Amino acid sequence: MATNRQRYLRQQAELGGDEVYLTAPLPAGEPAVAEAVATEPAPVGSAQPEVPSAAATPARSEPLASGIEKWRKDAPAIPGPGLVVQPPELGLLGDEVWRTDSLDQLASMIHGCQKCRLCEGRTKAVPGEGNPRARLMCVGEGPGATEDQTGRPFVGAAGQLLDQILAAIDCPRDTVFIANIVKCRPPQNRKPLPDEAAACLPYLHRQIALVRPTVLLALGGTAAEWLLGVRKSLGELRNQVHRYGNIPLIVTYHPAALLRNPNWKKPTWDDVRIARQLLDPRSA
Ligand code: URA
Ligand code: URA
Repeated sequence: MATNRQRYLRQQAELGGDEVYLTAPLPAGEPAVAEAVATEPAPVGSAQPEVPSAAATPARSEPLASGIEKWRKDAPAIPGPGLVVQPPELGLLGDEVWRTDSLDQLASMIHGCQKCRLCEGRTKAVPGEGNPRARLMCVGEGPGATEDQTGRPFVGAAGQLLDQILAAIDCPRDTVFIANIVKCRPPQNRKPLPDEAAACLPYLHRQIALVRPTVLLALGGTAAEWLLGVRKSLGELRNQVHRYGNIPLIVTYHPAALLRNPNWKKPTWDDVRIARQLLDPRSA
């Protein structure tokens, strides 16, 4: 049986994180939470940003005295191009899914879905939610316990961190659309198995086609791999502007990973500010 430490290190490797310094070995029997030594200040989530008022599109941010939005200050340059994937052709999604013409209709279908074994253990399916005309669409891995109970994505601890991250780039939660690779909770929050992800992906492809976001943000390795159709580490996929059809796609850490490893907050803050710049390029 893997120790917590082994599990933790394996998870780090999967997430493609940089080297991490543990201040102490993980106590036996404890959940895999490591006290990591942050080498840089961690702006994301370190203070509760003021949440801008809800609006149908991301609010124009408060300019600083210097005249630029807070998130834009010292934001990294937009990186070069990465992978290009074509969204599946119409017919390949299955007629039933492709014929849906609203997110609500798709959600009803998901609530009744029995395409994979995950339906057996679910309390509620979690189709995803948000602004149907969102400019930013976030994609996670799959529902956890709180999501399974409530039927809503990213409402547990990781979700609260995601809310803060979104607020910090002036894209408050209700302006974006949030979905997952799989819509039902995998047992013990394990990674979705390939057949489960494959069975569920047509829903996500259809959601993207219906929302038509300006930018896609993949949260964590699972979302990145399935959206881009590759097996690569997060480290290999970050810091590039991939394309899903015509939509730029940025890959960053999963917020749950940030809760375990604060070292990743700074790179995440960089990634989301890249995504944010793609939404609103600096005007000439
Ligand atoms: N983690 C995810 O990947 N998705 C959720 O909806 C919640 C937690
Ligand atoms: N998937 C990821 O990529 N990261 C997590 O922390 C959890 C699931």
